[in-house]
Amino acid sequence: MQMDQLVALCRRRGFLFQSSEIYGGIQGFWDYGPLGVELKRNVRECWWRDMVTTHNELECPPGAPEPYEMVGLDCAIIMHPQVWKCSGHYDLFIDMMQMCRHCKKLVRADQVGQMLRESDWVQSLGAALGAAGLDKAVRVDAAALVKWAQGQGRKLAPGLALVRSPAQTAQALAARLSQAGAPLKLADLLDHLAATCDDAVGLQKPCPYCGGDMTEPRPFNLMFKTTVGALGDEDDVAFLRPETAQGIFVNFKNVLDSTRVRIPFGIAQIGKSFRNEITPRNFTFRSREFEQMEIEFFCHPDSSPAWYQYWRQRRYQWYIDLGLSPQRLRLRDHSPEELSHYSCGTADIEYAFPFLEPGEFGELEGVAHRGDFDLRSHMEGKLVHQDPKDPSSPLVVELDAEGKPRHRGSGKDLSYYDDITRQRYIPHVIEPSAGADRAALAFLCEAYCEDEVPDEHGKPTKRVLLRLHPRLAPIKVAVLPLVKKDGMPEVAREIYKSLKPHMNVFYDEKGAIGRRYRRQDEIGTPYCITVDGQTLVDGTVTIRDRDSLRQWRVKKEDCLQELKL
Ligand code: GAP
Repeated sequence: MQMDQLVALCRRRGFLFQSSEIYGGIQGFWDYGPLGVELKRNVRECWWRDMVTTHNELECPPGAPEPYEMVGLDCAIIMHPQVWKCSGHYDLFIDMMQMCRHCKKLVRADQVGQMLRESDWVQSLGAALGAAGLDKAVRVDAAALVKWAQGQGRKLAPGLALVRSPAQTAQALAARLSQAGAPLKLADLLDHLAATCDDAVGLQKPCPYCGGDMTEPRPFNLMFKTTVGALGDEDDVAFLRPETAQGIFVNFKNVLDSTRVRIPFGIAQIGKSFRNEITPRNFTFRSREFEQMEIEFFCHPDSSPAWYQYWRQRRYQWYIDLGLSPQRLRLRDHSPEELSHYSCGTADIEYAFPFLEPGEFGELEGVAHRGDFDLRSHMEGKLVHQDPKDPSSPLVVELDAEGKPRHRGSGKDLSYYDDITRQRYIPHVIEPSAGADRAALAFLCEAYCEDEVPDEHGKPTKRVLLRLHPRLAPIKVAVLPLVKKDGMPEVAREIYKSLKPHMNVFYDEKGAIGRRYRRQDEIGTPYCITVDGQTLVDGTVTIRDRDSLRQWRVKKEDCLQELKL
């Protein structure tokens, strides 16, 4: 499947629109249309039901070390700024970015390479290089390259160092090509130049948008700033939350004191988070406003490794149960260098999104062992590792030059007292943190397919369909009278009315029946009920299955029972 086919379908059928489209859009923000809003609501509801409301706290689920409880929270998006200082986001929630001196665009430093590969001008320049016969050369003809860069290259990428200093570039090229012997890919060449050439001559990795020179990478904090109150000065600065997790940590004691939960237990929250991503891209995959579905699971430090294993498997299986194929889904452990400042173990659940190169995977969810980092930070002040180079060294409160805590904690006691074992301790936390938008996107990518089906006259015709799991499908069933006469619409409306209180049903009487089926297939409706001539004779209707195209007859009163979604 090509990503642009899915993007086109999402727009055409009202799943997703670019935010503020009539004003030209705003990058990194998306609006869910009438069908998209149902899909995303279903993703959230499946998650909430499966993780929270249908969870049975009296029995031990398979793979869990013991029975546990689950409760929910819904916290404010704007919190006390101190929350972000103690969580580490104020100091550490940064990406390295580079700015193009030519077009002034910002790019995340670690994405320049991939963006170059996809860039329009690299593609055109690559084609021009090929047209000049310079792409397959084993030994490059430097003079020919200089000539090419001065002519064709300058037209296509005027800001590009390769074009401005062709003589130096030719030298680097010659070295590369004399070893390679393989056809030359421009993006690889540019990567090579960046790695081997002297910045002083302006041959560093160029801007993926225009080919211009980039500044050195510098840190950029991803939190959106706002002000609270009328004055709007520095003291009023607050942040839009970059994750929902911190709302759970700062309410840990409130939940303990107001409910009868005992450790082990989890607190779940679904809500919007905001990150000022430098290069939002790949449809909704990396947005600036998105929704998270997070669990903070509190447990005894000794049993935390077993709970970490449990949640990794549990969350991985959740995606499979809702239709993602195991061939496109994987659990990947973070290497020690990759671990976040708070984590003593993280595994990502990753999906092979179609916008990635073959063999590449993108993060759907992170399952992290956060130890006691967050509760201790909110008690004592921001924590750091005693040895900053060793993530396994003990956590200590970060001190300023005068030896005082740099960011003071709340001073509140966030420890837990177990009145059975008579033990007091700071719980450890396992955090399965998923993105509702990424999950919805993965389900859409997996569901999109095209096949051929016979039309009314038996002629094979192409059909586009979304094989969404029935729990995720925006519309569960469409009720269709075969023709708009002979009393069929009246019977169909009665069936529609009887199903409506139980599920999202759609009624459609306009157009040829084949076309109406196709429209439902395209938006993932798992079943169509058709009222036809025989209905008027014996009171039965047909039910058509979207994927197998199987049709069977049931009594019209039995539709609800038959569908059992
Ligand atoms: N509390 C931990 C945390 O926030 P994260 O890996 O930064 O961890 C968790 O985010 C999940 O949130 C990701 O796996 C992803 O599904 C989603 N997410 C993060 N940034 C996102 C973005 N810019 N756009 C869409 N979803 C995002």
